Amino acid sequence: MKIILHPYPRFVDLIIQFIQPDHNKSGQVMPKDISTIVSMPDEVKGVLKKACYDCHSNNTDYPWYTYVQPIHWFINYHIKSGKDELNFNEFGIYTPRRQQNKLRAIESSLKEGTMPLWSYTLIHRNAILSEAEKSLIIDWVQSSKDSLNKKANSSVH
Ligand code: HEC
Repeated sequence: MKIILHPYPRFVDLIIQFIQPDHNKSGQVMPKDISTIVSMPDEVKGVLKKACYDCHSNNTDYPWYTYVQPIHWFINYHIKSGKDELNFNEFGIYTPRRQQNKLRAIESSLKEGTMPLWSYTLIHRNAILSEAEKSLIIDWVQSSKDSLNKKANSSVH
């Protein structure tokens, strides 16, 4: 009888499934975080964290009820599609053009009031942004766009 030693046995896949957190949490330092690309004052970060990061970052703050199905499924779906569109922790991976587009999209989502998703603000009342918080973010988007433009122009030479 021959014992076949597979270099990567199937059960390893299985074990990985158990190890992998099914939750969107990451304790790692994120080298591609948006704050490594443009400067991000603490107040800006605070607002984005409370209103956007649950769906647009690698860290989601899960209240207890999200452990209940189908809420869990529903929320994971939003996190997945939100992160696909925009992930603040992976902003540095985007091409400069995409970074500009995303910043523009953030601005219009706030002006039009499409973000955060209304279904989210039903539960997370503090994610409803005041006019002052919105203008804080919009001003920050403006200056971030300018600084990205300057970077792009200086790298042309
Ligand atoms: C409950 C989850 C959730 C929260 C909270 C949330 N978003 Fe979103 N966001 C989504 C989903 C899902 C999409 C993709 C589908 C869509 O556009 O509806 C999205 C899409 C976007 C897009 C579009 C990206 C593009 O390229 O068109 C922007 C910009 C955005 N969100 C910004 C924000 C900002 C800014 C906040 C906080 C003020 C925020 N979002 C809060 C779930 C969320």
